[in-house]
Amino acid sequence: MVGSVLLKRMIEDGDFKNINPNFFSTSQILHTGPQLGKKKFILHDAFDIDALTAMDIIVSCHSSNYTNIVYKKLIKNKWKGYWLDASSTLRMNNDAVIVLDPINSNLIYKYLDMGIKTFIGGNCIVSIMLMTLGGLFKAKIIDWINSITYQAASGAGSQYMRELINQMYNISNIFYNDFNSVDSKILDIDKKLNRVMYSGILQTKKINLPIAVSLLPWIDQQINNGQSREEWKSNIETNKILGYLQNTITIDGICVRIGTMRCHSQALIIKLRKNIPINDIETIINEHNDWVNIVPNNKKASIEYLTPASVSGNIKILIGRMRNLIIGDEYLTAFSVGDQLIWGAAEPIKRMLNIIINYI
Ligand code: HSE
Repeated sequence: MVGSVLLKRMIEDGDFKNINPNFFSTSQILHTGPQLGKKKFILHDAFDIDALTAMDIIVSCHSSNYTNIVYKKLIKNKWKGYWLDASSTLRMNNDAVIVLDPINSNLIYKYLDMGIKTFIGGNCIVSIMLMTLGGLFKAKIIDWINSITYQAASGAGSQYMRELINQMYNISNIFYNDFNSVDSKILDIDKKLNRVMYSGILQTKKINLPIAVSLLPWIDQQINNGQSREEWKSNIETNKILGYLQNTITIDGICVRIGTMRCHSQALIIKLRKNIPINDIETIINEHNDWVNIVPNNKKASIEYLTPASVSGNIKILIGRMRNLIIGDEYLTAFSVGDQLIWGAAEPIKRMLNIIINYI
């Protein structure tokens, strides 16, 4: 899925004019791959280490498992090329840079100059948060952040998205007669729905539990301090992307999986180092990059624009509901929505690939 979005974005922006690409697959070897202009590409074996060793740059949109197996073999095979992927396997390695160039281009070029060749896209909710609040990070006025996330099914993969739709489809089939009967009572429907949810009728092969008309307040593995691994990543990856080894910014909260398709949202409480008027905050955020857009903090604009359905497929990241909390003027609250597959996955990789091509 990330590969498809990446390919689409690269074609849209004409990125292939500077590349002589080869396409690899783990499952569809020798099948017809993408078509670029009139040229059709055949898919090579993504486990053929010798074929991969001949590449100057490898961009992997595959899983952590794939990186685990293939990256080590390439290094053992004395491969000297650039590795670029979006999985978490190598992110925290000392010789790997987490890339999000509108935020950390200085760090990226510093490491390129040092000869580092491993560049990894960050966790999606982290990249979207940094793109949203980039101006505040740059101005160094953030003390700490509490982030409560509402993460879409796409973050867990395409099978998860399919299963979400499948659960919704089954629910609507089961309740077809109830919905169409004038005598049906909503509390009876609700009671029946509760029975259906945990009856085993709904498909839960991938998600393990029903998520349609519900949510799951845990993403990724459990770590031993009560955080989920997704929550741990928010703090650790943000500071690595910003290059903060000391004077780190603390980010913590709760990551929640919800039944939306491909946009991650987050409710933020930001403790500022000083009181700054909201108008100035808006200017700082707005001027930082071309993709963040501010939604005015009123009901009409918020419910019309600041939603996963409205942002889906869009390269813009929206931030709204911005105001000072009544607990104190240095406490800012906000709500942001970004497409998980674009800024959360494909876009940082696409941009880093162009940076490497222009660098070498
Ligand atoms: N871990 C993220 C999620 C995927 O589960 O939504 C993006 O890195």
